[in-house]
Amino acid sequence: MEGGFLDWSNRPSVYKKYRGLKTVQLPGEAAEIETPFSDLIYEQPDSLSFSPDLETVTRLLVTACRPTASARFQGEAFYYLNAPSAGALYPCELYVAAQSVKGVSDGLYHYDSRSRMLTVLRGESVLETEAENPCIVLFITVIFFRSSWKYRERSYRYHLLDSGHLMESCAFAAKACRLPYMVSYDFDDAFTNQFLGVDDAREGCLAVIGIPDLAYRMKEMEPIPENVRNSSQVAEYSVSYPVMESIHRSSAAIGERDDPPEDTATEIDIPVISESAFTDFSSKEMNTPYEKVMTARRSRRNFIPEQIDSRSLNALPPLFQAEGKGDVPWRKYIAAGFIAGDVGGINPGVYLISPSKGKIRLIKEGAFINAMTHICLDQNWLRNAGLLFFTAADPEALDKRWGPRGYRYAMLSAGRVGHRIYLGATALKLGCCGVGAFYDDEAATLIGLGQSYVMLYLLAVGHVKK
Ligand SMILES: Cc1cc2nc3c(=O)[nH]c(=O)nc-3n(C[C@H](O)[C@H](O)[C@H](O)COP(=O)(O)O)c2cc1C
Repeated sequence: MEGGFLDWSNRPSVYKKYRGLKTVQLPGEAAEIETPFSDLIYEQPDSLSFSPDLETVTRLLVTACRPTASARFQGEAFYYLNAPSAGALYPCELYVAAQSVKGVSDGLYHYDSRSRMLTVLRGESVLETEAENPCIVLFITVIFFRSSWKYRERSYRYHLLDSGHLMESCAFAAKACRLPYMVSYDFDDAFTNQFLGVDDAREGCLAVIGIPDLAYRMKEMEPIPENVRNSSQVAEYSVSYPVMESIHRSSAAIGERDDPPEDTATEIDIPVISESAFTDFSSKEMNTPYEKVMTARRSRRNFIPEQIDSRSLNALPPLFQAEGKGDVPWRKYIAAGFIAGDVGGINPGVYLISPSKGKIRLIKEGAFINAMTHICLDQNWLRNAGLLFFTAADPEALDKRWGPRGYRYAMLSAGRVGHRIYLGATALKLGCCGVGAFYDDEAATLIGLGQSYVMLYLLAVGHVKK
């Protein structure tokens, strides 16, 4: 990217403001989630006793998204949320539709995580479910300009990665509340955006979480009044980035290609220097209560040069597997691995992770942390991180198999995996920081998965100053 400058006089607001609409203040503190983080990694709650009420919705929302730190910024309070966001720009918004939930009127609401306030966008039944069964649906949108204000065209990646983080946080919240859920990457963009009443030139839905499942239908509704739709405008003016808009528009089409190739991409065909099995220590090492883990998660950059022990190393790769219920069929198109620095029991090098087989494979031997630091725009704090986890994919293979939406699948999934790594590192009392700023070509060459693979996301993990 060529250099640029930030127009501070036009900084987008992190608050979506509605005027003249009814609001509902969620009840005070919700009960803490005592369940250990490790119990939630693979948990699949069943729907046998699903009878949600206002408390369920409150717990779900405040566990999915809430402020966990604050600072003063330009004379005002600034809140950091539990899920990370590139540059702390927080492009995501969360909406909730409720049907037959005790104590909650059927309708569509916007959730303001900072004030725990619901704004009533549609005060009538908006979902069709079989026999009026109870249903809660969370919609994750992004307001594009919040991130493109700073990151310009590159921000579409951050929109997707940030949404992936929030998606996974919603999934963990559902599990923590013992609620069955299913996530969806596929929905009719135009219909959903009009249902949510957002201005789809400025804001768009990227992910949906259905509780208990996706067996609902959004009702055909009147368009939401223009003044409400205008709330998607959060800055005086927006700059348009045609490339980004075109990627977003073309990835609106759902569905596989008419003539998709065989699903042969099971393993990357690449020479392996050595292979070893990892023991899944996740349940023993990461049994801190979920509430503690999710509130303690922060991006830490103050890494110190201290060896990561092999038990911690073994606890993290399994996190690449559990995508939860409705495991994504494109998982095999996403490669996962890490660059190891000073890690007990293994040599420095680039490793691929095969979570389903419980194996790590060394594909390049040598010390590469400094080289990757340089590629990540010389963010020099990375030098002392012991592990740099990465996800990568072959965009052409994704496109051939899944069509243009494949790009969203990959980036959202990379964000979801990234969220688990953040939480896992936090539970292990290690520091973690996501890195989206890197030179693509150089990063792809360094991880060495072949010409067609690009790196999607990097997460540094290591010991940090106490
Ligand atoms: C997709 C993504 C990319 C990020 N890239 C970087 C990065 O390149 N450098 C960095 O220092 N922090 C990066 N971060 C960390 C954010 O700056 C951090 O999440 C944000 O400031 C909020 O702070 P918190 O994570 O402590 O809540 C990234 C975070 C995300 C989610």
